[in-house]
Amino acid sequence: MCWLARAVPNLIWTLRWEADLSTADHDSLSGLLLRVYPMHDKTFRDGRSWSGAIPEARVIGYDGARPVAHLGFLRRQLRIDDGAASVLVGDAGLVGVDPDFRGSGVGLQLLTECATALQGLALPFGFLTCGPDVVPFYENGGWQLLPGQVTRMIDNDLHPETYTGPALALPVTAGIEQWPTGHTVVRDGLEV
Ligand SMILES: CC(C)(COP(=O)(O)OP(=O)(O)OC[C@H]1O[C@@H](n2cnc3c(N)ncnc32)[C@H](O)[C@@H]1OP(=O)(O)O)[C@@H](O)C(=O)NCCC(=O)NCCS
Repeated sequence: MCWLARAVPNLIWTLRWEADLSTADHDSLSGLLLRVYPMHDKTFRDGRSWSGAIPEARVIGYDGARPVAHLGFLRRQLRIDDGAASVLVGDAGLVGVDPDFRGSGVGLQLLTECATALQGLALPFGFLTCGPDVVPFYENGGWQLLPGQVTRMIDNDLHPETYTGPALALPVTAGIEQWPTGHTVVRDGLEV
């Protein structure tokens, strides 16, 4: 009965705003993010549930009281080529599923819930940067690679950085053809 093992777990999905999170919420999210990113054990400790920029809101999937899937985002205007154009996005990060819940469609469900949240806020696009290995995951969720663009931003040590790895956009209320052309996307802040 292998198909049962791949059934998507029945989670409770919520959009949580940052000002509504309690200390206990941050503790449990910090624990989840530590399980998702064990190599960042110096970041996700003492109730710290963010890495770079603190999210404005989070899409969280709960198994009972336990958070097992998480994505954070904040609304941001990206500048293209130092201001030749700008684009409003839900800038996303801290994407992860508890290892106990992986491989059963929870990650894709997380991306669907994210799209619903961004739609509810009438945002034209989602945006994120990631490592090359997870691009297929995001593409499965409707995100589109932005080839030929680099992302200028501030790294977690607060130094300017030009990230040449993958950047992806999710068309939400706009079509991908409305994504601005230009070589450099400027994120005037830290990655979520
Ligand atoms: C990436 C992650 C969120 C996927 O969660 P998940 O619940 O296992 O994903 P799903 O079961 O919904 O898989 C959805 C699809 O994406 C693919 N996929 C899953 N993880 C992937 C990965 N790490 N790289 C590439 N593709 C991946 C799956 O094969 C599946 O495709 P299929 O339906 O064609 O088989 C999870 O592996 C995770 O938390 N990883 C560690 C944190 C991380 O890398 N986050 C992204 C940082 S930018």
